[in-house]
Amino acid sequence: MLLDTLNRSLRDLRISVTDRCNFRCVYCMPKEVFGGDFQFLEREQLLTFEEITRLARVFVTLGAEKIRLTGGEPLVRRNLERLIAMLSSIPGVDLTLTTNGSLLAQQAQALKDAGLQRVTVSLDSLDDAAFKAMNDVDFPVAKVLAGIAAAAAVGLAPIKINMVVKRGMNEHSIVPMARHFKGTGHILRFIEYMDVGHTNGWRLDDVVSAAEIISLLDAELPLEPVAPNYRGEVANLWRYSDGSGEIGVIASVTQAFCRDCTPARLSPEGSLYTCLFGLSGFDLRARVRDGASDEELARAIGRVWQVRGDRYSEIRSAATVHLTKVEISHIGG
Ligand code: GTP
Ligand code: 5AD
Ligand code: SF4
Ligand code: SF4
Repeated sequence: MLLDTLNRSLRDLRISVTDRCNFRCVYCMPKEVFGGDFQFLEREQLLTFEEITRLARVFVTLGAEKIRLTGGEPLVRRNLERLIAMLSSIPGVDLTLTTNGSLLAQQAQALKDAGLQRVTVSLDSLDDAAFKAMNDVDFPVAKVLAGIAAAAAVGLAPIKINMVVKRGMNEHSIVPMARHFKGTGHILRFIEYMDVGHTNGWRLDDVVSAAEIISLLDAELPLEPVAPNYRGEVANLWRYSDGSGEIGVIASVTQAFCRDCTPARLSPEGSLYTCLFGLSGFDLRARVRDGASDEELARAIGRVWQVRGDRYSEIRSAATVHLTKVEISHIGG
């Protein structure tokens, strides 16, 4: 049974393996909220690797072709390479991971050996001061660059680099980031700052639009639009006119793409969310721990997918911004 609602097939599965992170990005886990006394999930609340793998197999029977591990920061979950080895044994799946890159240099080889195919690395600036201010870390950008280099060296490619742009914090890094990654084969994607969760104090004025990003870049490094590789591709693609590569822009605020939205999201404690801006999830862990069969799990997921009506980005308004939505640090980007 393949799932297809309003032309929105279930094509990808994003699995958040932890709600913890060693960064405190201002747009995701502001330290005023996620500081010392924030209650993160306890170990026994997390899905085990066996439970994750079982659910992933069920999602694959429903049409998932791509599995992305995310978090929090997935590389802080202990023995993650064991989960990767288990997931990579599922046939026909593109297996990838989104990371902040800080622990990548030491883990890249083990991740590759376990069967990971590629990585997406978040990096918001090449400038140490802006990087530290935006991500609230106490080490230099060089550590993330070393992670990217290690991933490239072991063949976790093509590598995508995600840069969230927040006005007043890192617009000045747009052109230097483009220059740095141009010609390397890594695909830099600029992401509009989103009102995910309800703790990041989002204001529309802080969003630097895709149109503004492209015009800034095009003035220095001429660009041409590229057709999408597949329907529902999240990023709009552009190529450098001199043939030295491509970039992407993810315009989830100014150009919503809900009608083509294909990812199902599994939280670290086993709830299914059908939207990044969901208010609540469907508790799959309870079904798994109550002894549901694979067929029963598939039917439960199918029922949730078939009634989904999410289109948050299309209906975003002053009234929706303050809803108590799931945090992106919990459900994954
Ligand atoms: P690949 O094609 O597998 O490389 O993945 P992707 O292009 O979908 O990229 P990725 O998963 O890295 O998504 C990039 C960023 O886009 C995420 O971190 C989110 O910030 C944003 N994003 C991804 N999917 C959605 C979505 O369904 N809705 C919204 N609103 N934003 C999304
Ligand atoms: N706006 C846009 N993207 C965000 N991410 C996290 N928070 C936000 C936000 N407020 C995304 C980034 C990062 C991924 C893990 O989550 O793309 O690379
Ligand atoms: Fe951590 Fe990624 Fe969120 Fe930054 S965006 S706080 S690196 S989970
Ligand atoms: Fe999908 Fe929700 Fe994003 Fe729309 S807002 S694209 S429904 S995740």
